[in-house]
Amino acid sequence: MNFTELAKLRYSCRKFSDKAVEPEIIEKILEAGHLAPTGCNYQPQKILVLTDKEQLEKVGECTRFGFNAPLNFLICFDRSLSYTRGDGKNFGEIDTTIVATHMILKAAELGIGSTWIGAFNPVKTREVFNVPENFEILGFFPMGYPAEDAAPAHFHEEYRDPAEIVFYNNF
Ligand SMILES: Cc1cc2nc3c(=O)[nH]c(=O)nc-3n(C[C@H](O)[C@H](O)[C@H](O)COP(=O)(O)O)c2cc1C
Repeated sequence: MNFTELAKLRYSCRKFSDKAVEPEIIEKILEAGHLAPTGCNYQPQKILVLTDKEQLEKVGECTRFGFNAPLNFLICFDRSLSYTRGDGKNFGEIDTTIVATHMILKAAELGIGSTWIGAFNPVKTREVFNVPENFEILGFFPMGYPAEDAAPAHFHEEYRDPAEIVFYNNF
């Protein structure tokens, strides 16, 4: 599978089978994240891997987008570790976005479905998962083997006309 095929294969999966994701698959997904580039190579990402039933159940207290996934990653970054540009812009969110994207694509390659969850309660999430004060939360990333009837949302293939997005040489 080449990169474009992989990018086309991935979709936001919102229905999972109960089958647990094997530890070696989880490790491969984590490795893909580990290989991601970060500002100044500071690698500020902090990833909480949720596999225990008890912990997974708590996701429901933080977001309605848990989808009963058998695996979930809470991806954060340590703001005191991430690169801050001279004008004060902190790159942690950019770094972790790249990390998460690597993980999602690797998961897709391995037949694991995922969805990026930005709609969560950050205050509740910090409390429920004891997220340290200096960590900022990027999001939840529920993952698992897609349910037999899992399918992309109807808007999955609704792309804007590239002419609205891409400009050569001048806007
Ligand atoms: C930053 C970000 C936040 C998102 N947050 C949510 C979310 O909270 N709940 C959800 O169901 N999907 C969420 N999504 C998934 C998007 O709705 C989805 O990627 C988009 O509709 C395109 O569909 P596709 O992923 O199937 O290509 C999020 C995606 C991104 C990139």
